[in-house]
Order: sequence, then structure tokens, then C-alpha cells
Amino acid sequence: MITELQLRRPDDWHLHLRDGAGLRAVLPFSAARFARAIVMPNLQPPVTTTAQAAAYRQRILALLPAGSRFQPLMTLYLTDQTGAAEIERAHASGIIFGCKLYPAGATTHSDAGVTDIARLEETLQAMAALDLPLLVHGEVTDAQVDIFEREARFIDRVLAPLVERWPRLRIIFEHVTTRAAVQFVRSARPGVAATITPQHLLLNRNALLAGGIRPHHYCLPILKTELDRRSLLEAVADGDRRFFLGTDSAPHERHTKESACGCAGIFSAHAGIELYAEIFEREGILPRLAGFASEFGADFYRLPRNEGHIVLLKQAWTPPASYPFGEGELVPLRAGEPIAWRLESEAA
Ligand code: NCD
Ligand code: ZN
Ligand code: ZN
Repeated sequence: MITELQLRRPDDWHLHLRDGAGLRAVLPFSAARFARAIVMPNLQPPVTTTAQAAAYRQRILALLPAGSRFQPLMTLYLTDQTGAAEIERAHASGIIFGCKLYPAGATTHSDAGVTDIARLEETLQAMAALDLPLLVHGEVTDAQVDIFEREARFIDRVLAPLVERWPRLRIIFEHVTTRAAVQFVRSARPGVAATITPQHLLLNRNALLAGGIRPHHYCLPILKTELDRRSLLEAVADGDRRFFLGTDSAPHERHTKESACGCAGIFSAHAGIELYAEIFEREGILPRLAGFASEFGADFYRLPRNEGHIVLLKQAWTPPASYPFGEGELVPLRAGEPIAWRLESEAA
């Protein structure tokens, strides 16, 4: 049995770091594990300009633990108003690695998002020309569509036409959750990839209602069926290079989730690589972790693979019931329940 795993230092290709006291609370978890992360721009107000992204990047760097070499890779939040000039500024900045499409109303802090992709013709043309990737929250917002079907409908209605309309645009279908999404990415043209979260590999929708309602398992896209989960696992088991790690760690203060109308988002940065190691081992595909966590994402973004490494130990540990989060607290994924793998530098 493998009890120790040395891994090229991984990257997190989809991460919510928040801002201010929340940022201060969660940043050390990602910095301890990952070399780089694609930082999501859904702050309030959103990060819609290169100048805002540069300022946000400085706030992140200022809060890094001493000696950390963690690199935040910034993104812009597309709105109906984002023009080609902003894309040119973003590209020229050297600090922005993609632009995020949030369909307006699809998820947390997406109100300022795009109401109709047809409004973004010039913007997408500039992104394709400059080879700046488009990152997509892939769910339709039509309230008539069943919440479990919103990702699949997005593929037919928006993503498939988009992929065809812009043959040179590189697109990352973020946090894929369904068999339909896996099939779409696997049969798509080159330049289409996807991130996968730990929760969508570990859990199916039963985890939302196991003995009662479980707000800390609520995220968007919502957890899907066992068949969907198995499709995600098959993609990673095949070592398919179009699928790579993106935790979508999305912290929310406890009371905003434990509420009559709780927020979407699961915090996993405290175990952002360990949870993947656990599921890969359980599936007998631990040798596939290196590609998924440390190679395919860097290759897709055309960035060098990291030089350093981390060590994971097969030693169970139990995350606390909560972590401090500004004035409040944060309930992590697997709170009070054991995780099979531990990061060596955090070993007791
Ligand atoms: C994310 C958040 O809280 O910012 N929530 C989530 O459920 N995934 C937003 C997102 O990634 O859609
Ligand atoms: Zn999203
Ligand atoms: Zn996200």
C-alpha cells in the first residue's frame, strides 16, 4: 500500500479567495498546497477591469504568509459592457490569464454578469485574437429549467454554438458536473477543457439530503447523480488531459449558508489536494493524480509546470468543525470527519 506520495506542486485552476478579512483567513490554505491559482473575479463589486484586477492581486500578495511563492493568476469578470479595449489591456498586463463568463443570475455574485452572449461579439473576437481563454460558469439561468438540467441545457443552448462560433477561442468549462458535460468536452474541438471539483468527484446529490438538509454540501452547479459522478471519474481515470483540477473552494460565512435561503459554495481549500488524493486512491487511480493536479492545467494555460513538489502522507486527520473567517466562521468540507491523506508540512 502506498503511504507516501510525492507530487509536482499542483495548481488550483478555479479558486475563490474573496477579499479583506475573508481573504486573510483562507489564503494560507491554498498557498500551502498550490503554486498558483486562477483567482475568480466575483467580488462585490466584481473585478471587471485590469486596474481592479491589479489592485486585487496586490491585496492578495500583501496577505501571503512570509516566504510564500504562491502566484495568484487573475481573471476579469465579463459584463455586457466589457469591450475589446479592456481585453487588450488585460492581455497586455501580463497578470490576467482569462475572462470569466457568469450568465447573469447563475450563481453567487453573478448579478452583474452577462445577460446575452450575443452582446459580446467584439469582446470574444478580441479574446480569440489575443489567445486569452474564456472561463465559463456553464448553467442556463432560465427558472423554468430544472436545476439538475441547467448544465446540460447550457451546452445545447450556449456552449456548443459558442465553441463553433469562435474556433480559435480557448474555453474552460468550469466545474463540470454531468455526464453530458464530460461527453461534450471529450468530443469537442481542441482548445476546450474542463475543471473538476473535489465535491463533484466525491459526492452525489444524496449528500444534500442525507438524514436532513445539508447546506454545507450546497454549491452550484448542484451535486448530480451517481451516474454523473461516475462519468467524471471515468474522465480522470483515463488520464484525459482536457480535465484538470479546480477546487472551486468558495467560502461563505456559516450563517449565510445555515439560513432559510443559504448561499451556494463549498469551502475545500483546507484540504484542496488531499480530498482529490483520497478519491483517486479509492478509485485505484492514484497514478493519475499527477497529470490532473500538476500538469494538464498548466499545459492548457500554456504556463510552465511547477518545479517544486509536495509530499502527501496516508495519515487520516480530521478538519475542525469550523475555521475563523473574519468576524465569523467557516464550515469546511468534511468538518469533523476524517480525510485519509495529509499534507506532510502540516503533519503533527
Ligand atoms: C461560487 C461562489 O461562492 O463564489 N459558488 C459555488 O457554489 N460554486 C460561485 C461559482 O463558482 O459558481
Ligand atoms: Zn461557477
Ligand atoms: Zn467557482
